[in-house]
Amino acid sequence: MRITVSVDGTKYTDDVEPRMLLVHYLRERLGKTGTVVGCDTSNCGACTVHLDGHSVKSCSVLAVQADGCEVTTVEGLARDGRMHPVQQAFHDNHALQCGFCTPGMIMQAIDLLADDPDPDENAVRHGLEGNLCRCTGYQNIVRAVRDAASKMAPGAGPVAEQVSDSEITSRAPSHTGGGS
Ligand code: FES
Ligand code: FES
Repeated sequence: MRITVSVDGTKYTDDVEPRMLLVHYLRERLGKTGTVVGCDTSNCGACTVHLDGHSVKSCSVLAVQADGCEVTTVEGLARDGRMHPVQQAFHDNHALQCGFCTPGMIMQAIDLLADDPDPDENAVRHGLEGNLCRCTGYQNIVRAVRDAASKMAPGAGPVAEQVSDSEITSRAPSHTGGGS
């Protein structure tokens, strides 16, 4: 089946098997290996991306279901050489150990903050409960999300302005992938 999908601001048109999972399309066709696979049970959340602005586990979505949609991966978050504030907060708060869960955690955290810009600790833990950290680094992950929230709050300064500038848009040139 032929699909056209915008990924991190670039449009791709490819022929895919109807059974191909979105995560495999991203990694194997587009080389978006920042999105990782941590389980085969849809439990870990390591594969989380945004589909039309909302987080999804890309191992539980077919590539054909993304036809006509905008997908954002962790690789599409930085703007003008600057990390997204949530990425920066994970860095600043040492919110990773092996880092395997980090792409999915960050994508889920951004979705959480879009729904609740000022979550308390319980709300962060609840919002991230679909994402597992095998290194059990949850304490610093929660701290990072709350740190990002405070810096992204309207009027909080340059980081807040960066967020309003960093709306995900399809502004990169169109590209036709080499589907067969
Ligand atoms: S790889 Fe998707 S939930 Fe684990
Ligand atoms: S930092 Fe290792 S799985 Fe989370």
